[in-house]
Amino acid sequence: MPLLEINDLNVRYGEIVALRGVSFNVEEGQVVTLLGANGAGKSTTLRAISGLAKPASGDILFDGKSIAGLGPEAIVRMGISHVPEGRRVFPGLTVKENIMLGGSNRKASKAELSGEADAMFDLFPDIRKFSGALGWTLSGGQLQMVAVARGLMAKPRLLLLDEPSLGLAPVIVQAVFRIITEIRLSTTVLLVEQNARMGLSVADQGYVLETGRIVLGGKPEDLWANEAIAAAYLGGHGKPAAGLAAH
Ligand SMILES: Nc1ncnc2c1ncn2[C@@H]1O[C@H](COP(=O)(O)OP(=O)(O)OP(=O)(O)O)[C@@H](O)[C@H]1O
Ligand SMILES: [Mg+2]
Repeated sequence: MPLLEINDLNVRYGEIVALRGVSFNVEEGQVVTLLGANGAGKSTTLRAISGLAKPASGDILFDGKSIAGLGPEAIVRMGISHVPEGRRVFPGLTVKENIMLGGSNRKASKAELSGEADAMFDLFPDIRKFSGALGWTLSGGQLQMVAVARGLMAKPRLLLLDEPSLGLAPVIVQAVFRIITEIRLSTTVLLVEQNARMGLSVADQGYVLETGRIVLGGKPEDLWANEAIAAAYLGGHGKPAAGLAAH
């Protein structure tokens, strides 16, 4: 049984149809990447899974149970953590407190959460020096690391990552993707990316969304193998980014 199963999902924002008949699965232990241009429906797909957008029809099964229409808190408690677009970090809190917030869905003591947040800095050494500071100024990449660390504090079975590389310099993008290769060792990931090369470099399966429909799906090597498809949907020809292979 797939960890996540999306069946014929339709989502509307008023008159706007954002998703039309979207179906795909995420197997436990995999990284699945959703690609597509601006407005294709990538974020809406994640928002529907995490309960932020209500499906008009269709179903979303997590671990075999329907979660379509449940509220975001109930869905987090079931083990799905969503790191949304943008880097929402609370300026009045320290970096460590920001990270600890991610565990507030769990029945863990403050001491436990504190210890786990400290351990997060092993995965994100670039932000360790900001741990206890107030009045910090973080770069875009560092804010992204705080957001991902907060998502991981929920100890999710499924982590939803929305464009973690957006707006970051290439070297920081590499750092963020290196972290994804670490995360994938313990957590199933559904990743949204516009950067097809990077997105597919860590993926077991990829899907391309176009105006709310899945127009293409398969293993990264099969998606790249079709030159016409690669040119039309994957931002040109070429192979996945070197050095970041998923296996
Ligand atoms: N809150 C909203 N109200 C109305 N329409 C929305 C809303 N959010 C998204 N849409 C519309 O739904 C469609 C899908 O948007 P979505 O944000 O899912 O796309 P996306 O693939 O994540 O795009 P991007 O790459 O720009 O983040 C678009 O046509 C968008 O304009
Ligand atoms: Mg989006």
